Amino acid sequence: MTVLLLGGTSEARELAVLLDEAGVDFVSSLAGRVERPRLPVGEVRMGGFGGVEGLRAWLAERGATAVVDATHPFAEGMSANAVAACAASGVPLLRLARPGWGDAPG
Ligand SMILES: NC(=O)c1ccc[n+]([C@@H]2O[C@H](COP(=O)([O-])OP(=O)(O)OC[C@H]3O[C@@H](n4cnc5c(N)ncnc54)[C@H](OP(=O)(O)O)[C@@H]3O)[C@@H](O)[C@H]2O)c1
Repeated sequence: MTVLLLGGTSEARELAVLLDEAGVDFVSSLAGRVERPRLPVGEVRMGGFGGVEGLRAWLAERGATAVVDATHPFAEGMSANAVAACAASGVPLLRLARPGWGDAPG
């Protein structure tokens, strides 16, 4: 199994630790917008893939068998690209989303 972990969040860094400890082959991906990003453990790639087609090509080249989208909830472009690329490539996609705000305490 080779997992592409779309990150840039604390949740993604936490998952990277768990995957590393479990001995899973994975690559974290960061958008590369921050000058000194907090890096997760393990292999890291930086920068956009080049849209849906670029992501599809990356998945094929790396033989990725699963994608985890752990990007920030506002990163709608990346999440949409992941849905389209995974559907077209037949690669399973898991969305790891932080919980939203609940109702205010009464
Ligand atoms: N507080 C936080 O933790 C926090 C807050 C905001 C953003 N972020 C992180 O910052 C990144 C950028 O956010 P955004 O709102 O600008 O995203 P976006 O609008 O959804 O993404 C725009 C483009 O940036 C590239 N990109 C975004 N995230 C990427 C990733 N993880 N790996 C590789 N390429 C990525 C993609 O380019 P291509 O189309 O060329 O592939 C994407 O189409 C996200 O990964 C997000 O998780 C974190």
